[in-house]
Amino acid sequence: MFNIKITGTGSYLPDKILTNFDLEKMMDTSDEWITTRTGIKERHIAGEDEATSDLTTEAAKRALDMAGISPKELDLVMVATITPDTPFPATACWVQKKLGARPDIPAFDISAACSGYLYGIILSAGMIKTGIADKILLCGGEVLTKITNWNDRSTCVLFGDGAGCSVIEKSDGNSGLLSYVWGADGKLGNLLIQPAGGTRMPASKETVEKNLHTISMQGNDVYKNAVTKMKKAAIDSLKKANLKGDDVDVYVPHQANIRIIEATIKRAEIPMEKTVVTIDKTGNMSAATIPVGIDWAVRDGRLKRGNILLSTAFGGGFTWGAAVLRW
Ligand code: ACO
Repeated sequence: MFNIKITGTGSYLPDKILTNFDLEKMMDTSDEWITTRTGIKERHIAGEDEATSDLTTEAAKRALDMAGISPKELDLVMVATITPDTPFPATACWVQKKLGARPDIPAFDISAACSGYLYGIILSAGMIKTGIADKILLCGGEVLTKITNWNDRSTCVLFGDGAGCSVIEKSDGNSGLLSYVWGADGKLGNLLIQPAGGTRMPASKETVEKNLHTISMQGNDVYKNAVTKMKKAAIDSLKKANLKGDDVDVYVPHQANIRIIEATIKRAEIPMEKTVVTIDKTGNMSAATIPVGIDWAVRDGRLKRGNILLSTAFGGGFTWGAAVLRW
C-alpha cells in the first residue's frame, strides 16, 4: 500500500448551463438521442473570459479549505488537462501564481486526456513514498467547449467544462492507494485527437478553416475500446488489491457515456447505487471528471473515511487507468 491520504477535495463548474433542449435549437439533434446514447442532459460552459486555470484555481481553493492548509504549504502543483490556458507555460504554473503558492515549488501539467487525474494519483503516491513531495495539489481542469467543433453534432453534444482538485498528503497508515493500473496505446492515437496546433500541423489559415483545432473522434471505435479497457482496468485493479466488486463502497468512473459505465459495473459486479454518476449534469469533462465526481461524493456524504473507493478512466492516447483507494 502507498500511504497517501486525500485530505481535501474541491470542484468548480462555470455558471452557464447548456441543455440538450438548447442544443436542439442550435443543430439537428434531440434530447432523446443525446440522453439515450450518452446519458447527458446538460453541461456547463465556460464564459469567453474564463480559461482552464480560472476554473481550476476556484476548485483548488475549495480543496485547500477542506484540507485546512494554506497554498504556501504546498510543495507541488500538478494539473491534468488537454485544454491548457496556453501550450506553455503549463496551466499548473498559472494556478500556482493565482493561488499565491510559493514561487519556488515545481508545477507542471499532465497530458493523459481523461486518465490524467488517475495518472496524477499514481505519480503522487510515488512522490510521497519517496519523499519527493509531502503536500501535493493535484487538479483536473478542462474547458473542452473551446476546442469543440460546434458543426459536428456527433462530438459537440458530449463535452462540458469544469475542474476538480485534491490535496494529497502522507497518511498515518489507514488511508492509502491499495492498487493501481495504468497504461497507454499510442497506436490508436488518431481515433481521438486534436489534429492541429502542435508541431505536426502548426496553426495556419487552412487548419482554422478546416476546424482542425477541435476534437476529432471516431466514436464507435473509441466506444468499443473504452468499454474493454474500463472493464479490464476495474477487474485488474480490484484483483491486485485482493478485493471483489462487492467490497467497493464507492465507484467513480470516468464519465464519457452512461452505457460504458453500465457495461463496466455489470462486468465488475458493482451495483449502480455505489456508482457516482455526474454525466447527466456535466457531460464529459475529460481530466476534470473524476476529481469532480470524488468531490461531489465526499460533500454529499457518500464517500467516508475508511471506505473503499474504485476509480477508472479511459481517454485519448489511448490512455487508461484505475486506482483502488482506502479513503
Ligand atoms: N443527434 C442526433 N443524431 C446524431 C447525433 C446527434 N447529436 N450524432 C450522431 N447522430 C447520428 C449519426 O449521424 C448516425 O446517423 P446515421 O445512422 O443516419 O448515419 C447515428 O446517429 C448513429 O451514430 P453513431 O456515431 O453510430 O452513434 P453511436 O451510437 O456510436 O454513439 C457516441 C455515438 C455517443 C459518440 C458513442 O460512440 C460514444 O460514446 N463513443 C465513446 C466516447 C468516449 O468514450 N470518449 C472517450 C473519452 S473522451 C476524451 O478522451 C477527450
